[in-house]
Amino acid sequence: MLRYRILIVDDEQIVRNSLRRLLQHHEREILLAANLSEAKQKIIETMPDLLIVDYKLGDENGIDLLPFVREHHPEAIVIVLTAYGNIALAVEAIKKGAYDFLQKESDPAILRHVIDRALERVRLRKEVEMLQLSHTGHHAGGPIVFKSKAMKRVMELANEYAQSDCTVLLEGETGTGKSMVAEYIHYTSRRKENPLITINCGAIPRELIESELFGYEAGAFTGAHSQGKVGLIEQADGGTLFLDEISDLAVELQSKLLFVLEKGEFLRVGGVTPKKVDVRFLAATNANLHALLQERKFRQDLYYRLNVGYIHIPPLRDRKEDILPLAHMFVQYFNKKFHKAIEGFTPEAEAELLNYTWPGNIRELRNIIERVFLISKTSIIGKEELHLLVNASASSLNDHVCRLEIELGQCDNALTYATRRIVEHAWELAQHNQSTAAKLLGIPRTTLQNYLQKFRLI
Ligand SMILES: Nc1ncnc2c1ncn2[C@@H]1O[C@H](COP(=O)(O)OP(=O)(O)O)[C@@H](O)[C@H]1O
Ligand SMILES: [Mg+2]
Repeated sequence: MLRYRILIVDDEQIVRNSLRRLLQHHEREILLAANLSEAKQKIIETMPDLLIVDYKLGDENGIDLLPFVREHHPEAIVIVLTAYGNIALAVEAIKKGAYDFLQKESDPAILRHVIDRALERVRLRKEVEMLQLSHTGHHAGGPIVFKSKAMKRVMELANEYAQSDCTVLLEGETGTGKSMVAEYIHYTSRRKENPLITINCGAIPRELIESELFGYEAGAFTGAHSQGKVGLIEQADGGTLFLDEISDLAVELQSKLLFVLEKGEFLRVGGVTPKKVDVRFLAATNANLHALLQERKFRQDLYYRLNVGYIHIPPLRDRKEDILPLAHMFVQYFNKKFHKAIEGFTPEAEAELLNYTWPGNIRELRNIIERVFLISKTSIIGKEELHLLVNASASSLNDHVCRLEIELGQCDNALTYATRRIVEHAWELAQHNQSTAAKLLGIPRTTLQNYLQKFRLI
């Protein structure tokens, strides 16, 4: 596995090449830049762990890179190269945030020692980061992993909202982590001992959703249970109700929901006396709710009532720094699950992960890595394995083929696994429409509903 990325910034090709030779090692990837603008671009693209920067870069000054590093990649360690005897410059560099300095004519042994020490520091930081990552938060799918500023902000907001009881609207593309953040908010809030009830407003048929949400009184309608039914709002009493895909909620139900939000009371279907509940509401949508207001598909008053707290989770392609940490976390997660010992990715495979646009976001990343585990025969994931899968997954929404490859004996329960894959595939293909999905699978809708529940897809 590739562990360290080093960027050498020097205007003289001879110096760049000799440093590269000196530092070459199988655990290191060495990148080169000849001037400040090249260096800045490489920093953004590759997030190197260590930078070795010449003080004098032609007309430019290597130290001018320090504020840029501090702003865009503060974890990077910078070592400044100075001409022999120029201690004043070295001191200036350290004052401005460089980790250390090296004199150009130093003995190669000294140079190696300083670099090794810096990389040791990088290693420690990475270890601490991994530990922190696994302690920042957990949800049903494993630790919550993030590195980007945007996700740090998301988690800060989630923590802030967890301290209060306000309604929170989560917006983001499918697979960006909305459900995960909703879970996180509930389980870090004072309501954590009480239930978190989730309802997917898009997955439950319109006719059923009202009685699901509000419950009904005995004899409310023909076919109703004689004892009546406790709705989800009531079940969530003391806890949190998470309304997923809220944009799919029919307009008539939006007004009933608004009433609950405003009064803390609701009426069962067929009921006459309002019941009091103490419920905290979270809502999520992958549609732009604000745009739906204009089309009058979503009530403005409900929108404002939901939007007290607001979290936008950006798509994965807009926070590329999260891709590799997430990919590595999923590798660890599936190593445990499938009793494998995959170490990671080749540099080419990492580049592939970084370049892909991830229309299905983290859910897609997770699924792809899970599938790689089933086909991979080596201890390191290469570009080829990934390439095939990324392409397959990008086109999977247009084709009706469910590709399955299962290594028998390697998987806890191959049959369940295969069933889940097929159901998931049909579910995506049908865009979460139950009758279409049931048709695709050739099973009755009730059977489909059982599977959807079993595999926690609704
Ligand atoms: N930052 C993250 N760290 C770890 N796992 C994540 C992260 N974001 C999303 N996931 C995982 O990706 C998958 C999709 O997330 P989910 O919350 O279901 O997305 P959404 O509700 O926005 O469609 C889930 O398996 C979730 O556990
Ligand atoms: Mg979700």
